[in-house]
Amino acid sequence: MVLSATQVAAFERDGFLVVPDAVDHSACDELIARAGEIVDAFDPSTVSIFSTQEQTRTSDDYFLASGDRISCFFEADAFAPDGTLRQDKSLSINKIGHAMHDLDPTFDRFSRQPVIAEAAASIGMQDPKLLQSMYIFKPPHIGGEVTCHQDSTFLYTDPMTVVGFWVALQDATLENGCLWAEPGGHLGPLRKRFVLDPNGGTRFEELDPTPFPEPGGPELVPLEAAKGTMVLLHGLLPHWSDENRSDRSRHTFTIHVIDGTADYPAENWLHRGEHLPLRGF
Ligand code: FE2
Repeated sequence: MVLSATQVAAFERDGFLVVPDAVDHSACDELIARAGEIVDAFDPSTVSIFSTQEQTRTSDDYFLASGDRISCFFEADAFAPDGTLRQDKSLSINKIGHAMHDLDPTFDRFSRQPVIAEAAASIGMQDPKLLQSMYIFKPPHIGGEVTCHQDSTFLYTDPMTVVGFWVALQDATLENGCLWAEPGGHLGPLRKRFVLDPNGGTRFEELDPTPFPEPGGPELVPLEAAKGTMVLLHGLLPHWSDENRSDRSRHTFTIHVIDGTADYPAENWLHRGEHLPLRGF
């Protein structure tokens, strides 16, 4: 197993695990290059701005259709008041999502590399299914804050099984908006679920009023991560990342994995067509 018993125990205690030097730098560079090609080919007339602060409003058809596609989402601050991009298109994208791991050979290879598959097995996933891939750019100057949240809000299963395998493709530091997490916070309740609204669009269903830690507050610890570091994130773990106002980007890739033994509710936002059933590693 790629993770030691001590590492598995730390993951179960803290709800996260930082694994330095997990992924080869060459694999990181290959993914960065491929993401650049996808953005180059993206027609920005299909505008979808991604902001966790205004998630309901921006959950347009483009977002809801992205569960089995390769879609690009702009930063909320990408556009000047006159509607033109403030920076080059390549420096204006918030993320690519959400099925690159099944539709793009480079992303498929990266997502299914043995270190990730073995880490999933190490923490006891019985029937891992790769549900969602996200390439996050956190571009210089306009990279947006990701407000404190739990991934199970968005990728709920019964019982809750989602685990994020997050990889730093570039150094993630305090200056360019690294992850912050609440050690042991995964032992707390799920605060809300992001669900399809029967009347169209999406909404948040409030489940528990327990507040999240304040951004940058004492309950959170920064997870600075050098290129090639893998971070495992429990689905119930409150985590946050700050905006990036530095002149350096912070590219990361996350593959979210659920256990196929759990129920996947129909009201979850992410759906895949029958042409693209979920696959394992
Ligand atoms: Fe997250």
